[in-house]
Amino acid sequence: MLAVSPFNELALGSLAHADQIKIFDTTLRDGEQAPGIALSSDDKVRIALALDDLGVDIMEAGFAASSITEKETLKRIVAEKPQAVVCSLSRSVRSDVDAVIDTGADFIHTFIATSDLHMKYKLKMTPEEVKARAVETVEYAREHGLEVQFSCEDATRSDLGFMKEVFLAVQDAGASSVNVPDTVGVIVPQGMRYVIGQLHDVLSVPIAVHCHNDMGLAVANTLAAVESGAEICHVTMCGIGERTGNAALEEVAVNLFANYGVQTVDLQKIGPTARMIERVTGFPMAYNKAVVGRNAFAHESGIHVHGVMGNSLTYEPFKPEMAGVDRRLVIGKHSGAHSVKGRLEELKIRFPEEMLPELMAQIKEIAIGGKEIDDAELLAIVDHVLWKKEIGEERVKLDSIVVFTGKGVTSTSTVTVTVDGESRTRAETGVGPVDAALKAIAEAVNDSITLEEFKLAAVTGGSDSICEVTVMIKDVQNDGNTAVGKAVGLDVVQTSVDAMMSAINRDYARKKESE
Ligand code: KIV
Ligand code: ZN
Repeated sequence: MLAVSPFNELALGSLAHADQIKIFDTTLRDGEQAPGIALSSDDKVRIALALDDLGVDIMEAGFAASSITEKETLKRIVAEKPQAVVCSLSRSVRSDVDAVIDTGADFIHTFIATSDLHMKYKLKMTPEEVKARAVETVEYAREHGLEVQFSCEDATRSDLGFMKEVFLAVQDAGASSVNVPDTVGVIVPQGMRYVIGQLHDVLSVPIAVHCHNDMGLAVANTLAAVESGAEICHVTMCGIGERTGNAALEEVAVNLFANYGVQTVDLQKIGPTARMIERVTGFPMAYNKAVVGRNAFAHESGIHVHGVMGNSLTYEPFKPEMAGVDRRLVIGKHSGAHSVKGRLEELKIRFPEEMLPELMAQIKEIAIGGKEIDDAELLAIVDHVLWKKEIGEERVKLDSIVVFTGKGVTSTSTVTVTVDGESRTRAETGVGPVDAALKAIAEAVNDSITLEEFKLAAVTGGSDSICEVTVMIKDVQNDGNTAVGKAVGLDVVQTSVDAMMSAINRDYARKKESE
């Protein structure tokens, strides 16, 4: 299932607090603060239930004081009685705590900034005032029976001595855990190890860590904090959150399991949960997103596909099913014949070995520009290559074609074809570029040709899908015969022209046989 580096274990040893590690999910609070995401109350309840099913320990389901709707949504989530502890964010002000009390949640996450930058320019408060406010709010929440986690916002740019003072004071006031947010993603793992180690030495309550990804280190910093004794990991699904987001739940959970031997959430539910979050938030996931991105287990190059077919761990850190995601062997411009053959075998398609070079040439032509060819498209190309073989040598050749089209102009096409060695050039107009092109070809080959049927299908339904065109024409050689031609390609006009040419040559091939 797994093949991570053996050096990890040598360097890390085992975690003394492995069975205390908890996942504090803040997808519905920090995640929802991501620009471009605005969830309805129903969306939030659905996500909360999915996160609960995934197995998070604590879910920060919102910020009760931010709006009446938010408070009502938190109430709805609390009423669902999830297994996970439901928490609300709260500034260090009594009215925010009151809003949380109204939701019925048992857990509150209070915060106030402790860095000089924030105290001076944002809060306009002295350190003494900040500390007093932090303590007073924790006490107030405790008096109302709430379990409290307290955060020093911008902790990683705060004075360590002052932060220790504040954390010790809120611990005395009854906070059951404290959180160290890297609010602007400015620390490196070594720095995180240092600060958590320092705090761990003086505090008796569990330490949480909340890392932002501004410089791409959110997950590394979260793991570094765990190595130094942090027990609670603040994460969001797919790493969504303010600016560049937060430490991604799936990355932290998979790393904890694979590299630290720590089991947190139900890993196999990660894939379905990520897809659901992507759908509901409408926030597109990067193709190369670790663990759950579309390319996380996709292999295209011949060497990699060959390796993966022998043993998937050659090019994967763990089997995708471990995280509930799928492997994709992609056929594209980097594919080798080995991959294509393998895929055809899996699809139970028999394809003549000697025609593989032609199939590969067609695949490469269509895959130029990075297009991935899926199974339906691969089958359409196979069909086309086999079909072309039936036609044999082309007696009618298309030497050139120009199509002129646009809004407010009549589509016009000029073609030059060679019929049995004789070059002919004709121009025609049509209701659109395809019509003009096919008419010009017919005119050049034989003006009595009629188009009996024209079928166009986007093989996968996407706008970048390859299309498959089938045409049926009559009277190519004035004998009342009908001929069918097919082609696949990316461009509708070009593919229609190819289908027309294949029908014409098919008719000529028939005639040749009977001659
Ligand atoms: O990033 C941050 O500092 C926060 C706090 C509210 C904990 O999200
Ligand atoms: Zn945050």
